[in-house]
Amino acid sequence: MHLRELRASDREVLATLIRGSAAFREDEIEVALELIDAGLDSRSGYLFVVAADEHERALGYACYGLTPLTDGVYDLYWIVVDAARQRSGVGRQLLEAVKRDARARHGRCVIIETSGKPSYASQRAFYERCGCEMLARYPDFYRVGDDKLVYMVRL
Ligand SMILES: CC(C)(COP(=O)(O)OP(=O)(O)OC[C@H]1O[C@@H](n2cnc3c(N)ncnc32)[C@H](O)[C@@H]1OP(=O)(O)O)[C@@H](O)C(=O)NCCC(=O)NCCS
Repeated sequence: MHLRELRASDREVLATLIRGSAAFREDEIEVALELIDAGLDSRSGYLFVVAADEHERALGYACYGLTPLTDGVYDLYWIVVDAARQRSGVGRQLLEAVKRDARARHGRCVIIETSGKPSYASQRAFYERCGCEMLARYPDFYRVGDDKLVYMVRL
């Protein structure tokens, strides 16, 4: 596995990974794909890191960017690993790459928003195992019974 930049040829593979993760609703999938399309234009401000295998096939990716109007706060917008490759360290390497790049851009921290619903327990476990600290809970934010949790990792 190696890390590299996003390529136009990744789009279909990443779409399959996003759909295959079973974590996202159709409207969320649409937004994830819009960000990929935006990220292929280097002027968009959306930054990507892709994990790829030895044949350059994408195994996962992270999308992040500077939060507008902040001095060095980065948002992790999306992180997805191929369901068949989860729990083997790919997600951690993607998150570490995001942190490294944000730090190199004088970032101070990375903010991550996720769901508090029971089916997102694995995502929360991932962020917590990777050293992210939960800062806030917005009750019923996404839907009634679906809180927004805000995590932060300092750089
Ligand atoms: C969340 C996600 C990106 C994690 O990627 P991953 O490659 O499986 O994670 P890693 O293997 O790098 O795990 C890193 C740490 O998190 C822990 N972890 C990961 N998944 C976990 C789970 N389901 N339960 C408990 N711990 C978990 C690992 O044990 C590891 O900790 P350790 O190194 O201390 O043992 C991946 O599960 C995924 O793509 N999920 C679907 C998409 C999604 O929901 N993305 C987040 C919302 S945008």
